[in-house]
Amino acid sequence: MNADHVNNNDSPLAIIIFGATGDLTRRKLIPAIYELTEAGKLPAETYIIGFARREWSDENLRETFKAGIDEDISPKKPAKAPMNKVLQNSFYLRSTFEDPDGYKRLCDKLDALQVKNILYYLATPPEEYATIIAQIGAAGINKQPRGWTRIIIEKPYGRDLESAIALDTEVHKVFAEHQVYRIDHYLGKETVQNILVFRFANAIFEPLWNRRYVDHVQITVAETMGVGTRAGYYDNSGVIRDMFQNHLLQLVTLTAMEAPVGFNADAVRDEKVKVLKALRPIRDQEVITNTFRAQYVSGLIGKKRVPGYKDEDGVPADSVTETLLAVRMYVDNWRWAGVPFFVRSAKRMPGRMTKILIRFRQAPLSLFNWTNLAGDAPNTLILNLQPNEGIRLEFGAKAPGPVNEILPVNMEFDYDETFGSEPPDAYERLLLDCIMGDATLFTRADEVRGQWSYVTDIINGWKNNPVRNLPVYESGTWGPPGLDEFIHLNGLTWR
Ligand code: BG6
Repeated sequence: MNADHVNNNDSPLAIIIFGATGDLTRRKLIPAIYELTEAGKLPAETYIIGFARREWSDENLRETFKAGIDEDISPKKPAKAPMNKVLQNSFYLRSTFEDPDGYKRLCDKLDALQVKNILYYLATPPEEYATIIAQIGAAGINKQPRGWTRIIIEKPYGRDLESAIALDTEVHKVFAEHQVYRIDHYLGKETVQNILVFRFANAIFEPLWNRRYVDHVQITVAETMGVGTRAGYYDNSGVIRDMFQNHLLQLVTLTAMEAPVGFNADAVRDEKVKVLKALRPIRDQEVITNTFRAQYVSGLIGKKRVPGYKDEDGVPADSVTETLLAVRMYVDNWRWAGVPFFVRSAKRMPGRMTKILIRFRQAPLSLFNWTNLAGDAPNTLILNLQPNEGIRLEFGAKAPGPVNEILPVNMEFDYDETFGSEPPDAYERLLLDCIMGDATLFTRADEVRGQWSYVTDIINGWKNNPVRNLPVYESGTWGPPGLDEFIHLNGLTWR
């Protein structure tokens, strides 16, 4: 066993957050650390070291952390004593990311705190990743003599296949792959984890989960938000890099993968990688019929008028970045040959919703010459990942009374109603998993490459076949007519 796998998890732990002054730390990481502290799941001595460029003091950092906890926790329940513990154990280290002296001061701090285990968290812009990692290596704090050292790396992990491979090379000069935790927060969502439980802890669905019974699959991630203050990043990314390469492809692989030989990090990820390898590439002109892109213009979200994408602060007036994307995908393996997966994601939709819809084939013979309001293929399984978390199976039933009529009805599981609470935040689970050394819910190097390989073909196809007029859709609508026509090509409609 590798020394780094030793779980001496009662020993003093330092969580070192690079880019600690940013939004992600305040909104997600610190509330998650607070919740874990309150639940007694972290070592008694857990220190948080914020490493960033701004002229801040320990006090500034603690105030910001407190605000983050207050915003996130207090509306639900009063923050308790653990808050003081989290704040007292938080320290600020001011340095540029390239200055070796900053890392030397970091070493001194770790020594002073007698830290045994180290978790680095890269929450900086991605341009800084390679520099920080190289400096950690140069300072010799990439492994611990009597504990473990791990690194969580936020997305985006590269911007195409080549840059992802280049980043891996830099990462692997300093960290072994088993130390590297590439985070995709969708995998930390309870309902996303439940995809595998639903499929593989129950015997009745899996026999139907294939080309013989499934007509097609639809995966939708719709958001009401626009790009907000992130235009600089977003305009260089679009939906394809921001959502599709990571979150959507994760949902595709979890939906399509075979049962793993065991529920552990390597076995699960082996199966996901196989799906990525089986994806039918979309190359060059194939992008024209197999992808659809659009951009939002001004419109109403609820009652509020919101600006169009090109009017957002920091977006160039001639931007052709997509804020809506649909892709027709095929998984060319025995299970899924010929079954289209329609995958779409967009910002500024009328509602927030993430769902996976499995549409089953119609019955082999139409027996009832009745009024059929459920349709020829009434069986649809819908995994509602967020919000209104739950699962619904739709089927046709005889209408009551002396009528020959079939009606659509549902069997439902509602997460909130059943478990009496909303699912916890993804970052809590993922931070804890990393501390426990469980990488199942993190993306392995070959998995990221598989994702980028598929996505890079599409991006290159777009480059070689530029659109003259990117379709637009009004904010607060479900996209332009072209989105419907896209799926109509297969004789289908979006749900
Ligand atoms: C992030 C994207 O990864 O996911 C954002 O960068 C997006 O653009 C967000 O809004 C969506 O996450 P969630 O958990 O709100 O569905």
